[in-house]
Amino acid sequence: MSVEPNRGAAGGAGAAGTAASQGADVATGGLVQRLGGRLAFGGDYNPEQWDEAVWREDDALMARAGVNLVTVGVFSWALLEPEEGRYDFGRLDAHLDRLHAAGVAVDLATPTASPPPWFTLAHPDAMPVTADGVRLVHGSRDTYCLAAPAYREAAVRIATALAERYGDHPAVAMWHVHNEYATVCYCDHAAAAFRTWLRRRHGTLDKLNDAWGTAFWSQRYASWDEILPPRATQWHRNPALTLDYRRFWSDQALAGYREQREAIRAHSPGRPVVTNLMVPEYQVLDLWAFGREVDFVGIDHYPCGPGIEAAADIAFGGDRARSFGGGRPWLLIEQGTNTLYSGDRVLPKEPGDVLRHSVAHIAHGSEGALFFQWRQSKAGAEMWHSAMVPHAGPDSRIFREVTGTGAAVSRLAEVAGSRVRARAAVLHDSDAWWALDVQGTPSAELDYHGALRRAHRALWDAGVTADFAHPAAPGLDRYPLLVAPALHLLSETAAAAAREYVRGGGTLLVQHFSGVVDEHHQAWLGGYPAPALREALGIRVEEYRPLAQGEVLRLSDGSTGTAWSESVEPAGATPVTTYTHGMLAGRPALTRHSYGRGTAWYLSTRLDDTAYGDLMVRLTVEAGVPPELTPPLPGVEAVRRWSPDGTRAWLFLLNHTDGPLPVPQAPGGHELLTGRQVAPGELRLPARGAAVLRQEP
Ligand code: GLA
Repeated sequence: MSVEPNRGAAGGAGAAGTAASQGADVATGGLVQRLGGRLAFGGDYNPEQWDEAVWREDDALMARAGVNLVTVGVFSWALLEPEEGRYDFGRLDAHLDRLHAAGVAVDLATPTASPPPWFTLAHPDAMPVTADGVRLVHGSRDTYCLAAPAYREAAVRIATALAERYGDHPAVAMWHVHNEYATVCYCDHAAAAFRTWLRRRHGTLDKLNDAWGTAFWSQRYASWDEILPPRATQWHRNPALTLDYRRFWSDQALAGYREQREAIRAHSPGRPVVTNLMVPEYQVLDLWAFGREVDFVGIDHYPCGPGIEAAADIAFGGDRARSFGGGRPWLLIEQGTNTLYSGDRVLPKEPGDVLRHSVAHIAHGSEGALFFQWRQSKAGAEMWHSAMVPHAGPDSRIFREVTGTGAAVSRLAEVAGSRVRARAAVLHDSDAWWALDVQGTPSAELDYHGALRRAHRALWDAGVTADFAHPAAPGLDRYPLLVAPALHLLSETAAAAAREYVRGGGTLLVQHFSGVVDEHHQAWLGGYPAPALREALGIRVEEYRPLAQGEVLRLSDGSTGTAWSESVEPAGATPVTTYTHGMLAGRPALTRHSYGRGTAWYLSTRLDDTAYGDLMVRLTVEAGVPPELTPPLPGVEAVRRWSPDGTRAWLFLLNHTDGPLPVPQAPGGHELLTGRQVAPGELRLPARGAAVLRQEP
């Protein structure tokens, strides 16, 4: 079993990934080619839940809706392998042949996210154990331990059997390994694999003891066997151990993915292999590492919140998907037709949302729009989850909207292969996220994911399309503007890269409590942040001062800060705003430093929304990063995709408001969804609708 550490500095939009070296046939271009030049439209298809009469209706309805790609077999393990080593492919043979005859291509999944009951009984040691020591049993899904040899062997076995049988089936357009890697385990197999991983990472126990600071609380390890996963313990766990476990587990998932991918590639060369990633609050995987290993990035996305919140969330997810794939086109593998998650309930989408959300994903770089799932289940744990064909059947608003969306997606075929070009990026590093997610941080309001979203949202509100980038990725200087909202952990290399970025002419905003620990989760000494970053920022943070819940600090320009404050000493930087009262009165809250040919800003508190938005606009202006639409129109999102040679662009305009809107600042061009030519300044967006203007500059 491979536990090769795979994590590292490289990663960022524009970085070449493994897929690139596999050739265009396994990237999205190969998929689009197999779809006859069309973008993908369809969803998870689970015919095993239905009978022949329904399959016949499925064929007719898929044709009506313009479905050309379905994901098959995601949760079929119990049917495909009814007992260990005995396969029954009869039904799958028939479904693939039927779909192929109907002109529907297949994204064939390995069913390894849900081992069958016989597997649990035969291999109880392969069931996951929680941090509290509870061993889980079958009865749901995602119940397996990625470090258990029996599970890994069984997963590769079924993946190999599928690839041998269907590797050159004409219906198979791509492979879908597993489903949303997410389960974390703390069992003895995991402990053993963790120790092997740690030996590779740290080399010697002395180095591990130093890196983890085990002198504190008498934690010194005298033998590798003494080291345990971060299981339930009396009080705060060692943060460096917790961080290493996160890194280790992501590598375990990646190793499991790679094994299946290689088994498939051996029998199905030239067809893309991917897994469906979850991009929003998804901390289990280092998505930069996965982005380098998949043939293209595929994501599942279920917006949290209705209206404009859903729109911002789709942009956030799409920009992340594109960035994790090195800027290449990606694929939306799942979304809901009528599903918006909102706390303890699922809210319905409004009329028009299915189409606009689908077009929004495509605007951000997806080569199509797929859903979970084709037909709403009549039984089972997700029977109330929306689908393309709802319980009500095809005579329903949802199916009509799905059909309209299928037609719209088919009109966008010419954008295939084009790319979004972003000139601003938000720095994101899973290590920084995990490092801030340990016990014992100074404030519960230090929220990595929240800060990341907020920075992206402020750029999105300013009308600017943003990438995400790893702080140590090569080529950051192609972005005139970088925002580091929560780089809690910063290695010396990444800090030096940030300094050189500014020196070379970039504009960088760094926010509070960034760059305070190194890659081992040890504090940078002598004042925060890391020395190279201090030099670029022209400041030294002497003391952090978390604020009480609800406490508001007024700043010199009338704006306010909450959650956090810091005692910042300028060391070359100019204070832009200062704190007005308390111990920090007169000290800088926001600073600006000209360094080399660039500018570095430091924000030591959580600014109120308006002031934060204004700051982001100011930075985009100073950095010369214009909005896609000038001036931006409130409620209207604009994103451009460019042909690889830059001779054509498609301007996607999305009306996230409830009323029709004229867009006088829109250029002219051929509008793909209506097929009409639009004169400059004449575009009118329908309520909750979209337009896609072809531009040939
Ligand atoms: C995930 C899974 C699907 C389904 C949906 C429901 O994305 O991959 O199997 O459970 O969530 O939202």
